Amino acid sequence: MLALRNNLLKDKTVYSILESSLQQIVSPQLTKHNITLHLKRDDLLHPLISGNKWRKLKYNLIAMNTQGKNELVTFGGAFSNHIHACAAAGKEFNFKTHGIIRGPELDLNNPTLQFAQQAGMQLHPVTRLEYRERNKPDYLTSLQTRFPNAYLLPEGGTNEAALLGCKELAESLPHSDYIVCPTGSGGTLAGLIEGASLNTHVIGVAVLKQAEYLIDEIKSLSKRANSQHNWQLLCDHHGGGYGKFSEQLWQFCQSMLAAQQLPLEPIYSGKMMFALWQLIDQGFFPSGSKIIAIHTGGLQGLNGLRYRKLI
Ligand SMILES: Cc1ncc(COP(=O)(O)O)c(C=O)c1O
Repeated sequence: MLALRNNLLKDKTVYSILESSLQQIVSPQLTKHNITLHLKRDDLLHPLISGNKWRKLKYNLIAMNTQGKNELVTFGGAFSNHIHACAAAGKEFNFKTHGIIRGPELDLNNPTLQFAQQAGMQLHPVTRLEYRERNKPDYLTSLQTRFPNAYLLPEGGTNEAALLGCKELAESLPHSDYIVCPTGSGGTLAGLIEGASLNTHVIGVAVLKQAEYLIDEIKSLSKRANSQHNWQLLCDHHGGGYGKFSEQLWQFCQSMLAAQQLPLEPIYSGKMMFALWQLIDQGFFPSGSKIIAIHTGGLQGLNGLRYRKLI
């Protein structure tokens, strides 16, 4: 425990991960619509613990440290960005990590799980039925008994402490008319709403089908989302559902890399950028608008897509 304290607070402290840069995107389409677009390059925050994963982890690791816990237990699918980032954080800050993995089997040739294991994460495959219990109080109590020294972090890392990190991200940004992010569980969007000023409109692009239910989840996560109207969740840009993407979307990701040196993956940030590009084309944003889009990382997922021969 002392080692953890030292590492988190002194040697390699969580505060050693600094702010990421803003990259201006210059293109004839933006000029035509008189839009200024910057990308917050959170994918560059850290080589392995990047994007919204770091934003969500930061205050959770501080809480874990404050509670005197020296192990982290969390949950994820076989290609999860969250599992990857938690394993990397365990290695970087020297604490033990356990991943409850939606199984039933564990394919250790899968690059995400291979990385997690090499980073020292202990992988615990469970059946889909057991995985469904992951948020139930009884199941969490039994896990806490099994891992008494562990800090339990929900799937995707979304909880109150996660919101603080995403709030901090919004507060770190210069003024813009719009902040745009990809949305899975809604935690990142909720945190951005918490930290954005009232005259900034915060937009989440849902990456999954039938995401309207997330609006209530976001309102329950963020008091400000409940009382303010400066945000919205766009639910028509899922491209067929979570993890689904068209050839056109993948081509778009590749063209952004070639033209803007902007690496994107098609599940989160690429899906958001593709939507943003279409919205700009449709005149969704008034002329003169300043937009900041958040690159939430997730680039490790490209290895998983290649592994499954999906790209
Ligand atoms: C890379 C990436 N971007 C965006 C998201 C969506 O974030 P949230 O679940 O907070 O809506 C996720 C999933 O957590 C993710 O892995």
